[in-house]
Amino acid sequence: MSKISVIAGKSSEDLARKLSRKIKANLVKSEVRVFPDGESKITLTGNLSKKKSIVVQSICPPVDTNLIQALSLISKAKETSSEVIAVIPYMGYARQDREFLSGEIITMKVLGKLFKGAGASKIIVVDIHSMIGLKNFRIKSTNVTAIPDLVQYFKKLRLKKPLVVSPDQGGKDRAKEFADKFESEYIVLEKQRDRKTGKVQIKTKNTDEVAGRDLILVDDMISTGGSIIKATQFLKKQKCKRVFVACTHALLMNDAEKKIKKVGVTSIVSANTIPGKTSVVDVSNTIAKAII
Ligand code: R5P
Repeated sequence: MSKISVIAGKSSEDLARKLSRKIKANLVKSEVRVFPDGESKITLTGNLSKKKSIVVQSICPPVDTNLIQALSLISKAKETSSEVIAVIPYMGYARQDREFLSGEIITMKVLGKLFKGAGASKIIVVDIHSMIGLKNFRIKSTNVTAIPDLVQYFKKLRLKKPLVVSPDQGGKDRAKEFADKFESEYIVLEKQRDRKTGKVQIKTKNTDEVAGRDLILVDDMISTGGSIIKATQFLKKQKCKRVFVACTHALLMNDAEKKIKKVGVTSIVSANTIPGKTSVVDVSNTIAKAII
């Protein structure tokens, strides 16, 4: 048997399979039954390495179900393997990394305790919303980025005078990294989100920088689509050409994809940290490099 086992959680089966091939590990699948009351019953379908197990499970919707499944897999792996690495391609709750309003719980602190308590000795995430969240983890943590993989995808497209756009100040470094690798310019919009209602507004004043150009809106994640929709509406008013979206995690809740297309986005391109129609960019190689 290989010295390493990759345990495929239900939310990341395809990525786990690809990763196991890249690092030449033994793939162990998990069979999951979710009972009518919401409880998960998990059965592993193979033997684990005594040395090292890698659990791959995104904490995407249904977030709490996928979280308890990740923790259960880690706990089970720790019964056999002396080292357990948690690969959480999409880390749910990462936006709850600080107390924005008084009394709010920093859920990332809770997760830090849970992952350690379950038995993980290291955690690998992809484009976490902010590094502040990982500071709450008292185990070794590594954030890898899907940006080079996304850039490779966009390099194959024929874009007219491309310009990279961040929908908000928080995404400035991400947009800069994308633009540097893509060898283009970038701009950053100013977004305001109401902390109580979640409503988004673009505060940037009119700009002549985007007229006649193909734009790539770069973000870490799309949830409701609100940020991308508001940014696209603003950019279209400034007479840009086509708008493409490059993001790592496409949650696309409810009818977000439909709403994004309706405001004129040409296409959404995301990484396979969350399975889905738009998840055409494979990050298994990037994750593998962080493991080996
Ligand atoms: C926010 O700062 C993030 O980077 C994303 O822009 C945001 O979380 C996306 O959420 P939504 O699609 O609901 O606007």
